[in-house]
Amino acid sequence: MTELKNDTYLRALMREPVDYTPVWMMRQAGRYLPEYRKIRATAGDFMSLCRDAEFACEVTLQPLRRYPLDAAILFSDILTIPDAMGLGLYFETGEGPKFERPITCKADVEKIGIPDPEDELGYVMNAVRTIRKALNGDVPLIGFSGSPWTLATYMVEGGSSKAFTKIKKMMYTDPQTLHLLLDKLADSVISYLNAQIAAGAQSVMVFDTWGGVLSPRDYKDFSLQYMAKIVDGLTRFADGRAVPVTLFTKNGGMWLEDIAATGCDGVGLDWTIDIETAKARVGDKVALQGNMDPSMLYASKERIEQEVSKILAGFGNGGTGHVFNLGHGIQPDVNPDNAGYFIESVGRLSKPYHQK
Ligand code: CP3
Repeated sequence: MTELKNDTYLRALMREPVDYTPVWMMRQAGRYLPEYRKIRATAGDFMSLCRDAEFACEVTLQPLRRYPLDAAILFSDILTIPDAMGLGLYFETGEGPKFERPITCKADVEKIGIPDPEDELGYVMNAVRTIRKALNGDVPLIGFSGSPWTLATYMVEGGSSKAFTKIKKMMYTDPQTLHLLLDKLADSVISYLNAQIAAGAQSVMVFDTWGGVLSPRDYKDFSLQYMAKIVDGLTRFADGRAVPVTLFTKNGGMWLEDIAATGCDGVGLDWTIDIETAKARVGDKVALQGNMDPSMLYASKERIEQEVSKILAGFGNGGTGHVFNLGHGIQPDVNPDNAGYFIESVGRLSKPYHQK
């Protein structure tokens, strides 16, 4: 068991008392940081950065050297699982992720297996072990995965998509094939996240970036059902303490009660719902993570501070159970000083909400 010097993030997720509201940023390691761009140029490309434990560790730590963040997040990508399934992930400059061999039919789904996390995905576990050691107990390390539905969108569309026509066609014409794929993905995510926890991740988060493009009924059948299976299959206690699980469905504000009912510890919110409303609906069951619009970081320091105050006030007194974050990933053209001001404001302005 390692002694954690700052466990504020873990305590807030378990709705235990804290001295201030902890904060981290989705995509906190990335292109908005000049030191990231430098290492990325040395590594050559994004996946080479992920595959090298020393590089992955270095970029994970970069934002923590600049800012008083309360958690580190593993530097990797959600598309490591489909890559390990043999789909051939590559990144086309300016176009985002692509697959050489997308899923088109039942035979393609039947062919894929559950990747061995210590074999095909061993580079991710090596990164977790390296980062955990380098953190030296300063702050907890968050592991992560994509949700089965979100991973399936990339696997069936062959990359990023706007209208999701290929996967929706499969959903409405051949639902059994899609369910077979989602079930294999759920089993893969369970084994992948449990391996991250065994390697040293102290909390895990599931990114359901595209659950919000589904109708309410389809969300439950094709996304939430599989995230619930994941929550049930995860290791929830390791290294002498609870390992909190956060589920984040972008645009999922309509379904907060259903998400909370999976038994997860935290629910991630994007900026399209008021945190006050979210807290009134599910605050007695789960912690909430969020939820400032990442584009607010383009605004003035005064405007950023005003927004932080509003969100803290919206969550209100007895403010435990809140992890401050952006409602989605930080944009690559944000000024790093503004990100720093945001993080510092959360620390300073949240203290009065936690006085005993
Ligand atoms: O939060 C963190 O700091 C940890 C790292 C992290 C990355 N991707 C690094 C990354 C995490 C948690 C992710 C998750 C991820 N990846 C998601 C879910 C979260 C979300 O943002 O909705 C999704 C949908 C992906 C798939 C993916 N990977 C996309 C759409 C892109 C962007 C492509 C582009 O060119 O903009 C990536 C690449 C990626 N993943 C980068 C980073 C830092 C940029 C790579 C680079 O060019 O350096």
